[in-house]
Amino acid sequence: MSVHKSDVKKVTTHQLQNMKERGEKISMLTAYDYSMATILDAAGVDVLLVGDSASNVMAGHETTLPITLDQMIYHASSVIRGVNRAFVVVDLPFGSYQGNSSEALRSTIRIMKESGAHGIKLEGGAEIKESIIRILSAGVPVMGHLGLTPQSIYKFGTYTVRAKEEAEAQKLIDDALLLQELGCFSIVLEKIPSELAKRVAEKLQIPIIGIGAGPHVDGQVLVVHDMLGINKEFKPRFLRRYADLHTIMTDAVQNYVKDVKSKDFPNEKEAY
Ligand code: KIV
Repeated sequence: MSVHKSDVKKVTTHQLQNMKERGEKISMLTAYDYSMATILDAAGVDVLLVGDSASNVMAGHETTLPITLDQMIYHASSVIRGVNRAFVVVDLPFGSYQGNSSEALRSTIRIMKESGAHGIKLEGGAEIKESIIRILSAGVPVMGHLGLTPQSIYKFGTYTVRAKEEAEAQKLIDDALLLQELGCFSIVLEKIPSELAKRVAEKLQIPIIGIGAGPHVDGQVLVVHDMLGINKEFKPRFLRRYADLHTIMTDAVQNYVKDVKSKDFPNEKEAY
């Protein structure tokens, strides 16, 4: 017996696959908390990613490496409580799956049980094959992540475009084919040349979601704080800002401070 919370038609991996097949682009954004998740879900975002970028935009760390499994579960369960329709994917954080496949499965089961998420994402190709097999065998949908994989930033040394050289491009294609063969339902390609992303999206049957990977893929993902203009300093070429929340929020808060100082707030109507 299942208990339904609402009549909204939920996004599933099958629907995402159908969207690729009929050429409908998939929209995906990151979310880390309940209030933002309710807005993004009601606005029609297909996939919400509880990204380990929470380490940067929520906690202020320089990289994604410090965030823990417990912290990811806290963010994910907050997001899940705000969602009616979107498919919610949660990043396995650095250190929670690289050790071995049992550890990867244990971390995944904690995320699925404790947050109610719908699937997980993890970074890498052939080197994490055993972990992907083990997680898939537990019936958990897996999203891959290739190209610029921020958990390996100290190996790369910079956040510049990946796979510009033929050898790295070929490894990326081989890894993408492997992830599909293993049974991943989708792959994120981060910061790679547009032509390479196009080749992968055309070659693979599963949906390819890009971030800084050009227009010829099956969907797009952005970090919500970046596209809403909450972060002012982060300005990569691939980012389109849809709002300037930094300015809007600063103005609102400055007006509040002014009204408190001048005793304008609260007025008679705002008091009991
Ligand atoms: O953590 C994250 O926000 C991500 C996206 C950049 C795809 O992995």
